[in-house]
Amino acid sequence: MQSSRIGVGVGWVATLAALCVACASSDDDPRVRAAEQGKKAPAVPDRAQLAERARRIFGPLPDQVPRSDYSLTPARTDLGRKLYYDPRLSKSQQISCNSCHDLARYGVDGEPTSPGHRGQRGARNSPSVYNAALHIAQFWDGRSPDVEDQAKGPILNPVEMAMPSEEATVALLRSIPGYRADFEAAFPDDDEPISYDNMALAIGAFERRLMTPSPFDAFLAGDDDALDDVQLAGLETFVNTGCVTCHQGPAIGGRMYQKLGLVKPYATADTGRHAVTGLEGDRGVFKVPSLRNIEKTGPYLHDGSIESLDEMIRIMAEYQLGRALEDGQVASIRAFLGALTGRPDASYVAKPALPPSGPNTPGPDNT
Ligand code: HEC
Ligand code: HEC
Repeated sequence: MQSSRIGVGVGWVATLAALCVACASSDDDPRVRAAEQGKKAPAVPDRAQLAERARRIFGPLPDQVPRSDYSLTPARTDLGRKLYYDPRLSKSQQISCNSCHDLARYGVDGEPTSPGHRGQRGARNSPSVYNAALHIAQFWDGRSPDVEDQAKGPILNPVEMAMPSEEATVALLRSIPGYRADFEAAFPDDDEPISYDNMALAIGAFERRLMTPSPFDAFLAGDDDALDDVQLAGLETFVNTGCVTCHQGPAIGGRMYQKLGLVKPYATADTGRHAVTGLEGDRGVFKVPSLRNIEKTGPYLHDGSIESLDEMIRIMAEYQLGRALEDGQVASIRAFLGALTGRPDASYVAKPALPPSGPNTPGPDNT
């Protein structure tokens, strides 16, 4: 989106201000007003007023992210859930989507990079699948447009699930008798419902309801007391420091691409979005990640190189905003980020019974 204009050094302040219409307005900030009038700033921000500002910056978390061209029927999400958990979709028959994106662990595995087929590791950290359907695109570099398209990747990726081909995957699905009825129910209009595309549509449908409402959402919905005083101060610091120029919208991120090291160069070997667009200005540019459940989804950054959330907050302030935060500010931002830890619908994400293999279902291949 804006990424090619950003990162050239000159004019970043103007660009940031332009990106964030709702957040930088000092007119409605009581502390700025108080300071201008020479009065002492209030210690605890005004709850109702801050909630109103926050509503404009973030907006409500939906319970699903619908698509215009197909509906999220229960038959599709139920099938998608089974496929998500089914390790037979990997060559070794030991790795499922859930291995790297554990739904019982906030959609991650807690590793800097994840072990895939025969323990091989890719170069990037596994992001959470929770709330991912809200993002403008998928992957750290946005190379996939949506969760349906994304789901086709890992199954064939040789360092992830390592299936030899789409055909082999479809043959495997067709060899499992129970999947026949599930695909027919999910795609009743198709002559041959079991296809690679329909597999990805079902997984995507399941992911479109993986939302995690949190105390912060209760606050946005009007429960002024859903955040304690420290979290409230953290929210105010998060807004006023400028984190929201990038981490905004209902996912608290996921809406735009930005350079890691926007105002101060940050060393990373990964060229990020440059590999997707070929644009010089996209070197080191990544999708701004969602901060939902961030307290639980470390280690951080695209390469999983940062373990501590406090350090992450300081790095962001220094390299993205050119600011040094005081310890108290870091602590309060961290407390606010804790209020983004949410809860999925437990029955929706519970591991389902998988249909048993049939006589022609191939076995595991560990080569
Ligand atoms: C071996 C580990 C592994 C497996 C198995 C795996 N993934 Fe991933 N997943 C990753 C990694 C690593 C990334 C980030 C790669 C990148 O950005 O280049 C990723 C990215 C994603 C994203 C993008 C999220 C975002 O914020 O951009 C989604 C959605 C996702 N995976 C879903 C799935 C689904 C569905 C499956 C099963 C079909 C699956 N993954 C299997 C490791 C894995
Ligand atoms: C100019 C845009 C920008 C600003 C401003 C910004 N961030 Fe970020 N943030 C990013 C990008 C881009 C990444 C991902 C970089 C990467 O992985 O290489 C990121 C990553 C993060 C992460 C790690 C997320 C993860 O899943 O690994 C945290 C936590 C974070 N930011 C918090 C903050 C806080 C707190 C502030 C304010 C002090 C802030 N950010 C300001 C763009 C920004």
